[in-house]
This record gives sequence, structure tokens and C-alpha cells, in this order.
Amino acid sequence: MIGGFFVYMLKGKKILLGITASIAAYKSILLVRLLMKQGAEVKVILTPAAKDFVSPVVLSTLSKNEVLVDLSHNNAWNNHVMLGRWADVMLIAPLSCNTLAKMANGLCDNLLMAVYLSATCPVVLAPAMDEDMWHHSSTKKNLQLVKEYGNIILDVENGELASGLFGEGRMAEPENILLFITENFFRSGELKNKKALVTAGSTYEPLDPVRFVGNHSSGKMGFALAEALYEKGADVTIVSGPVHQTKKYDGIRIIHVSTAEEMYRVCMNLHGDVDIEIMAAAVADYKPANVSAEKIKKDKKDFTLSLEKTKDILTALGQAKKQNQFLVGFALETNNEREHAKNKLANKNADMIVLNSLRDENAGFGFDTNKVSVFFADGEEKELKLAGKKEIAEQIVQLIIQKINA
Ligand code: CTP
Repeated sequence: MIGGFFVYMLKGKKILLGITASIAAYKSILLVRLLMKQGAEVKVILTPAAKDFVSPVVLSTLSKNEVLVDLSHNNAWNNHVMLGRWADVMLIAPLSCNTLAKMANGLCDNLLMAVYLSATCPVVLAPAMDEDMWHHSSTKKNLQLVKEYGNIILDVENGELASGLFGEGRMAEPENILLFITENFFRSGELKNKKALVTAGSTYEPLDPVRFVGNHSSGKMGFALAEALYEKGADVTIVSGPVHQTKKYDGIRIIHVSTAEEMYRVCMNLHGDVDIEIMAAAVADYKPANVSAEKIKKDKKDFTLSLEKTKDILTALGQAKKQNQFLVGFALETNNEREHAKNKLANKNADMIVLNSLRDENAGFGFDTNKVSVFFADGEEKELKLAGKKEIAEQIVQLIIQKINA
């Protein structure tokens, strides 16, 4: 938290969720929960038939709003035009075959259809149906029509269907729906038009065709930083060593590399055209001086490995730094942490060094949490409390934004 400030991606955003009659409606409960957790204001409309699939009581409790079903409710008229104008995004999830057909033909026999036809905001549809229905010619035609009307259709997923069959037709998972709307409608603009480069993970320095020198870096911190930058509107490229992380957003570019030399070359190539560079990778400092073309046999009693230095990417970027470029480095230290971090800041011509101390519990390599201190070229220092890596990443990005705008 920076001054008690935590970033809720959907804070103040208004989401209208339409739920239709489909077994997948049970997933909408989780979707409401996820939207609320991100700070969104959620109103739910059920079709009359959807009431048999999901309880209005559960949905109204979770959304903290009355769930609407009929055009007139408790003798009051639901103003469908105002509901359609209230929302920033209207989601229909799950979208049944029946409601899809009504949308394609402009039928208006329930509140959800009346609101949909009045909606002035973007409408996102998450279809759910059995595979044979999904592949029916009329479904394809209706999907084509609603797409032409300007609605956005999320891909269905493959897997077990309510019929017990396996195939295409499952509703997109709630987490993926949340990611889609966040990515497409709710990225903030603080870093709009800024390009960012983030290195992540370890590098593998080959010794022979099957062995390498590397380290345990998971890449979590680098990927979390890339996500946080992207959520603020930046155009983001991750240059990643071999890791098991996957990017959360489609729009983040990822370039996979293996060695320090490859990472160096990619970063130097991109350097001319980026505004923010964050070197979060645990690049190998040394590599085997000789790489054997064949697998090394264990026929000797002793084996001495000769190592030579890799290129220091952070230093090279610091030397090539242009005005208005903001360069961030990481430091992992076990002793004299502040002194080492400050030296790195100066020696590498960085604007900010993020210090991890190996003495901090639950922080650093492999952990989901991190505790860091931050040092700036202007002498300012900040200590961030132990938190999830994504939260730390959000705070680091917030500090970068403050410095860039200072
Ligand atoms: N780094 C880099 N290229 C390298 C080695 C490190 O870009 N070949 C970057 C890391 O991504 C990190 C920073 O340099 O942002 C700090 O790396 P570290 O290895 O801790 O520092 P060194 O300067 O190599 O010093 P030492 O290992 O002696 O602490």
C-alpha cells in the first residue's frame, strides 16, 4: 500500500450482468464475486427462465444490489433505458441459444432483452451451449448477426459439457471474462503512449548440450511488473528467460530468450524505442568459458569449470540511456544492503533500484510475496511492506509514474 492506496482495477466501474438459462449460470456467481472484489459496481438481470438455474438471493447478496427479472417489479417499472445507459459495459454470461436468437432478431419479451436493446455501452457475450447447438447453422448465423450489430463475442471453451459429452461450447471461465473486460475497457491511461520493456526470469548458460548454469528465479516479479504497467495503459514487452509463467493479457508482447547474451541483444535492439525499462531478470553473471559440443562424460575424478563474465544488460542500458528514459534495476543482497543498492544505482546509471534482501522472510526467489526497499537517483528512499508480488509491482509502477510526472 502506498499511503493506504491499493489499486482496484475496476473501482467505480459499472457492470451490468445479464444471466440467461444455462447450466453455466452457476459460474456467474463467481463472476459477480470477482467483479466485486475488483471494486466494480454490479447490477444483475436474470431472464425469467434463469431463475431456475441460479438463485436471485445469492446474486443480490453478492452484488449488494437487487436482482432484476421483470419489467415491472414490486409494482414499480424498471427503467430499462436508464439501466442500459447506467452501465460502462454490459455482459451477458452465460448467453443461451434462445437469448442469442432473440438478440439476432431484435425480440423484446423480457427485461434483459429490453435493456440490451436500449444499451448504449459495449456489450460482451459469453455463449454457453451444447456442442451440437453451438455448431448448428442457425447459431452460426445468429452469432454472425449479433457480431455485425457490434456486440463482442467471447470464445467458448473446450471441455466437459452439461450433457456429459466433451467438446466445444463451455462458457469462458469467469477469470478469463474478467481479464477480457479489464484488458479491453478498463486499462487506465497514466502510461498511455509509453513503451515499457521488462526482463524476467533466469538465464541458462550452456555447458554442453544437456547442462547449463542457471538459477531459481521464477520470473513472477517480472511478469507482475509487466501486468501492472500494462494495466496502466503502457505498451509492454517482456524479455523472458526460461520460466513457467504465462502472460495474463493477450496484448503483452513476450520475447523468449535463453542466455544472457540473447537477452542482452534483444534489450539493446528494443532500447531505442522504449520509455521505461525494468531489469527484473536474475541474469547469470558468469557463463561457462567453453561450451562442449558433446555431452561431457564423467570420466575424470575432478572437474573444474572455467567461467567468464556475461554482459551486464542494466549497465549497458544505463550507458546508452537517453533523456526521458526511466531505468529500473533490481538488487539482491545479503549484507550492507543499502550501501550496495545505492552503489548499483550510481554505477549502473539507473533511476531506481529495487532492493530485495535475502534476510527478509517470505520474500524473493520463488515466493509469491516480496518485501522491497526502493532507492531513487534523486536520493529518495521508500520501504514497501511485505505483500503479494502483484501488489508490490503495482506500487513500484505507481512510484515510477510519480517520478516520471514529477
Ligand atoms: N543484470 C543485468 N545483466 C547482468 C546481470 C545483472 O541486467 N548480466 C541486472 C539485473 O537484472 C538486476 C541488476 O542487474 O536488475 C542487479 O544485478 P546483480 O547481479 O544483483 O548485481 P551486480 O551488479 O551483478 O553485482 P553483484 O552480483 O556483485 O551484487
